[in-house]
Amino acid sequence: MKLFVSAVLLVAAASAAHVPGSVPSNLYEPLEHRLAYAGPRGMTVSWNTFAKIDKPLVKYSQNPHKLTQDAKGNSVIYPTSRTWNHHVTLQDLKPNTKYYYTVTGENCHECPENEVYSFSTSLPAGDKTPYSIAVVVDLGLMGPQGLSTKVGTGAANPLGPNDTNTIQSLVQNIDSYDFLWHTGDIAYADYWLKEEIQGYLSNTTLTGGAELYETMLESFYDEMQPISSVKPYMVGPGNHEANCDNGGTTDPVHNITYTYDICLPGQLNFTGYINHFRMPSKESNGVGNFWYSWDHGLVHYIQLDTETDLGNGILAPDAPGGPEDENSGPFGSYPNEQVDWLAKDLASVDRSVTPWIVVGAHRPWYASYANKSSAICTVCKNAFEPLLNKYEVDLVMHGHIHFYERNAPMKNGVVDPNELNNPSSPWYIVNGAAGHYDGLDPLQYPIQNYSRYTTDQAYGWSRITVHNATHLTQEFVASRNNTVLDSATLYKEHNFKSKGHSKGYRGQH
Ligand SMILES: *[C@@H]1O[C@H](CO)[C@@H](O)[C@H](O)[C@H]1NC(C)=O
Ligand SMILES: *[C@@H]1O[C@H](CO)[C@@H](O)[C@H](O)[C@H]1NC(C)=O
Ligand SMILES: *[C@@H]1O[C@H](CO)[C@@H](O)[C@H](O)[C@H]1NC(C)=O
Ligand SMILES: *[C@@H]1O[C@H](CO)[C@@H](O)[C@H](O)[C@H]1NC(C)=O
Ligand SMILES: *[C@@H]1O[C@H](CO)[C@@H](O)[C@H](O)[C@H]1NC(C)=O
Ligand SMILES: *[C@@H]1O[C@H](CO)[C@@H](O)[C@H](O)[C@H]1NC(C)=O
Ligand SMILES: *[C@@H]1O[C@H](CO)[C@@H](O)[C@H](O)[C@H]1NC(C)=O
Ligand SMILES: *[C@@H]1O[C@H](CO)[C@@H](O)[C@H](O)[C@H]1NC(C)=O
Ligand SMILES: [Fe+2]
Repeated sequence: MKLFVSAVLLVAAASAAHVPGSVPSNLYEPLEHRLAYAGPRGMTVSWNTFAKIDKPLVKYSQNPHKLTQDAKGNSVIYPTSRTWNHHVTLQDLKPNTKYYYTVTGENCHECPENEVYSFSTSLPAGDKTPYSIAVVVDLGLMGPQGLSTKVGTGAANPLGPNDTNTIQSLVQNIDSYDFLWHTGDIAYADYWLKEEIQGYLSNTTLTGGAELYETMLESFYDEMQPISSVKPYMVGPGNHEANCDNGGTTDPVHNITYTYDICLPGQLNFTGYINHFRMPSKESNGVGNFWYSWDHGLVHYIQLDTETDLGNGILAPDAPGGPEDENSGPFGSYPNEQVDWLAKDLASVDRSVTPWIVVGAHRPWYASYANKSSAICTVCKNAFEPLLNKYEVDLVMHGHIHFYERNAPMKNGVVDPNELNNPSSPWYIVNGAAGHYDGLDPLQYPIQNYSRYTTDQAYGWSRITVHNATHLTQEFVASRNNTVLDSATLYKEHNFKSKGHSKGYRGQH
């Protein structure tokens, strides 16, 4: 056994040297490890390989030296992808427990002996243990094809020579959060075309787009590996997952306007995103990686889809013929599936067990961005806000606009008179400042009167700390130097009556 362990560690050292975006010499080398909660007692382990593996397998147990249990899964690929996506869901795990795992293939003689990673399963719903999570939106590739010490034409805020970027900051702070929640705009691989047109990339050819798109995705997932291999990486859809051209790009030099027609099959309709991740929608009656929910301790988390499927006849931004015409969706089996699901999901929450409800939704409807009103998603507001108000959702995390803005709790555009002291309205935060090649978005004056803190000067991420059933803190952490630039605590009385079907956490108020 001892021998086996040192062999594993040896391989670990070797695989750590993988250069993001490169093709490894052993095509069976597992890359882009990622985890996702799968119900209260499950964890999905996903990874990619350049070679096809017939039967992906995860070996695991609570003892890193004896990975005696195993679970099987499946593999998917799509046209233009250079790699296979493997997904294996581990079930019947103990809650709040550390497990060790390694990924391989059944009878896969070419599969190397792989590194052992670990994860912790979620806290049972109602468990009062305080904890923190990290939230990012609009986080792209870092380095020469992404955010670096230079930015695109006309953009501001390149990284300073000594700045840590958001991925590095999240790695440095990895012990401070239980999971990472990335609610849309993941990698920005679709900017390959814009980066070429702007001359941001060293001279590549436009016909190289398919490969460039895929390598940019691979590079990003490689950069995320130190986080996503050990912490659940929960994701939501953003407009940049929709297709390969970011809703239309004009090349002014050659007078060409590109549309999604330039995208090769496999780069449209959220294909990469659908293949790459496995969010717990089966476990929460949601749909794919688009809308779903899960519990962790005192919080019920909900991921919404602002891009497609808004229901009630509302044309979603990325829908075919929608305002941004990304030719994507729908993903529900009928037009109102998402809002119907949201209503049911919210109604089913036993607030005496999980008093907090935190929602992630990519596009904001409250933000100081009046002069660029197309970035404000009024249709999303129309689709979702009535339900969020009705069920007194506590916190809504948005992004899409690339700055940080903490707003007041509010309802139908009116600030809650209680502010953070036991409001009945949802609290809204926009944090799209994680970083991508084109810098941050400048604030648009006038700043709205519901805004409480805003900055367009720092890349950063949010840390949310759940102290107990009544207090929750949201901080904006500047990635550059890991300082907290903004911190505010929400107090909620949360005096909910038990629904009577909870298991052992009754009557906690
Ligand atoms: C970066 O760090 C180096 C070494 O500490 C220092 O000499 C240099 O002045 C710093 N540069 C900036 C722009 O802060
Ligand atoms: C890229 O290469 C083409 C053809 O080789 C050349 O015409 C063009 O000027 C180059 N562009 C840049 C930004 O170097
Ligand atoms: C650009 O192309 C459009 C049609 O595609 C044309 O109407 C327009 O005149 C062109 N502009 C220039 C500056 O060539
Ligand atoms: C996108 O994919 C979904 C299924 O995954 C399909 O139902 C829908 O028609 C597709 N949309 C477009 C515009 O191709
Ligand atoms: C936005 O528009 C307002 C007028 O409505 C103007 O006062 C303000 O300067 C504009 N801000 C920017 C950044 O253009
Ligand atoms: C805030 O601004 C809006 C207009 O944007 C205005 O209708 C409202 O009365 C203002 N509220 C307060 C409290 O000043
Ligand atoms: C909840 O946490 C807050 C912040 O840490 C603390 O001030 C408060 O006393 C706690 N409440 C209870 C009931 O423990
Ligand atoms: C850290 O970075 C932030 C954001 O740029 C800046 O405001 C702050 O002064 C920096 N703090 C230190 C200690 O350098
Ligand atoms: Fe976005």
